[in-house]
Amino acid sequence: MPEPIQNQFDISALDLPDILGTINEEVRARFGEGKVADYIDALANVPLDRFGMALVTRDGTVHEVGDSREPFSIQSISKVHTLTMALDAIGDALWDRVDREPSGDPFNSLIQLEYEKGIPRNPFMNAGALVVADVILSNYANPEQALLEFMRARSGSHDVGADEVVAKSERESGFRNIATANFIRSYGNIENDVDAVLDFYFLQCSLSMNCVDLARSVQYLSRGGYCDVSRTRVVSWELATRINSLMMTAGTYDAAGDFAFYVGLPAKSGVGGGIVAVAPHVMSLCVWYPGLDDKGNSMLGRYALHRFAQMTGLSVF
Ligand code: DON
Repeated sequence: MPEPIQNQFDISALDLPDILGTINEEVRARFGEGKVADYIDALANVPLDRFGMALVTRDGTVHEVGDSREPFSIQSISKVHTLTMALDAIGDALWDRVDREPSGDPFNSLIQLEYEKGIPRNPFMNAGALVVADVILSNYANPEQALLEFMRARSGSHDVGADEVVAKSERESGFRNIATANFIRSYGNIENDVDAVLDFYFLQCSLSMNCVDLARSVQYLSRGGYCDVSRTRVVSWELATRINSLMMTAGTYDAAGDFAFYVGLPAKSGVGGGIVAVAPHVMSLCVWYPGLDDKGNSMLGRYALHRFAQMTGLSVF
């Protein structure tokens, strides 16, 4: 297949430091909005007075503002990276085990799983991420190390690591995930020991990173699959477009329609308050504000991305 015609978006016309500065001021005036993810004890005490935003352009230039170097719990953002690893390992065979449709249900919902015989709707809801974790366990000799190496290579940071307190807290409060994994196992769509799959899933959720490292970690999705940080091709350009499309339709759970409407960029959120977003062929971004809306997405992170898309005209639509 031919290489695609790339967007000719001219970012040199944009005053990115000024745009980030404006967003930072607007967000700080609204500190306190939303609610932290208190169902995980270790996340319950994060203060609502932190906001960071970072973007990485195609040539690797970083622009950042606010608390962009403060590490936070990346949670479900890691589902982008594990999906990439699973696709790298088994390719399209993944789609026999996970579907590619938006769920329209909360990220931890089980309701469709019984009707759909243990095949999760998409790889970004918890059920789908658990199947992806199972694929990684079957295909990587040392899965946890492989994930850490993937994250470090993509972000260029050796500081990426698991927060043991968060991982323990995830397991202690992980009744829904434990039920989900066992339910999928009952349909034969998890092959490995359920506890081992859950341990990997809780580890991926407990990784700690900052906005700059996270924006870099998905730069390959803004560069047709090529990672400029490690100077390696991570996925084909076609696969990069596929992953971006899934982020658009399912990356923010049952708010994916709303994100497409207000932001118009593929995005993936986590209950730690981070959201990564991709402007294909232009830049990758990360925002962080710990207060969440009722769908589990960062309240002011979503606002920041909405304002960014408005001020830059960057939307895929
Ligand atoms: O599975 C959970 O409950 C969390 N550890 C991860 C959830 C998450 O980040 C979903 N995001 N919005």
